[in-house]
Amino acid sequence: MNSKLRWFVVAMVALLALAGYSLAQAQASPASIAKGGKLYDKWWKVVPNAVEPKGDHPLWASQTTNTRTGPDTWRCKECHGWDYKGKDGAYGSGSHKTGFVGVYNAGAAKSKAELVAILKGSTNPKHDFSALIDSLADFLKEGLADDSKYINYQTKKPIGGNLEQGKQVFTSSCAPCHGADGTQLNFGSEKEPEYVGTIASDNPWEFLHKVMSGQPGAPMPSGFESGWAREKAVDVLTFAQTLPTGEEAPPTPAVLPKTGDTPLPYLPLAAAGGLALLTGVALLRWTRRIGS
Ligand code: HEC
Ligand code: HEC
Repeated sequence: MNSKLRWFVVAMVALLALAGYSLAQAQASPASIAKGGKLYDKWWKVVPNAVEPKGDHPLWASQTTNTRTGPDTWRCKECHGWDYKGKDGAYGSGSHKTGFVGVYNAGAAKSKAELVAILKGSTNPKHDFSALIDSLADFLKEGLADDSKYINYQTKKPIGGNLEQGKQVFTSSCAPCHGADGTQLNFGSEKEPEYVGTIASDNPWEFLHKVMSGQPGAPMPSGFESGWAREKAVDVLTFAQTLPTGEEAPPTPAVLPKTGDTPLPYLPLAAAGGLALLTGVALLRWTRRIGS
């Protein structure tokens, strides 16, 4: 083979390999991924004509640590977590702890066909979600993210978010419904309000999930469908954590001096003291400079 021909063959093989690789990475539609993300949440609000499940999920009895009952036990997120990491993530402790495995590793390692099989109950007949499958498998395959890259699990603060950009995006994409400070929609009650700022501060994993997938049964747009990278949602999270949570400490009542007491003017006194000290130091330096 002459060398030109050899190079041609090498180039063709490389091209074919590349084409095969991109085919293997075949992307699901953003709409399907977003739908999967909403199914991962309250799926009965997404599936047409579905009714809210009654009683506990059949697998629920295999754990005792999470004492919720009813519809909650049917949500993927209740068993597998908002951060997709189950017992190895944010639900590894606290009232949501079940000890169940996460889905992040399976989403990364298994093929869509294998994921579909798991959702049909192939590994456990009680784990049968046949009606929800296609979009769920798309979500598991392409919609999951490793949130430890985006959120500090100890402080719940975002990692590497851009506050200014987040503010801009929030103002244009969220404020029309949630209000400029996020208090226009209250998901809680009057007594215990829950705003977009509350979710951002208390549960940043849920926040990212909902911004990317949308809210089941609500007209809220999905980041996946808008072509957002998770980093953009992290910017919004960074800003949203500065918004009111409704949990702000009530204003401390002003302490009024008791009648009869002469209130000591601590603040002016301290200021005068500080000023005197500064003047003293300045004077000392000045005299030293003159002396040298
Ligand atoms: C009541 C709890 C519960 C609910 C709800 C639930 N799962 Fe699971 N899931 C499990 C348990 C337990 C396992 C592990 C063993 C098994 O297959 O039964 C599992 C396994 C998985 C796995 C495989 C993980 C691995 O590493 O092999 C995937 C993927 C998965 N679930 C996705 C989902 C999705 C998507 C939903 C929502 C439609 C869902 N699960 C709802 C409990 C639950
Ligand atoms: C078209 C209106 C609309 C837009 C735009 C919108 N949302 Fe929402 N959002 C809603 C509605 C409606 C709900 C559900 C309220 C409820 O369930 O009571 C919601 C719920 C949420 C929740 C979950 C609350 C919960 O506890 O379940 C979060 C978090 C959230 N929105 C954040 C955002 C962010 C961030 C943006 C911008 C990127 C945004 N939303 C844009 C309408 C909107």
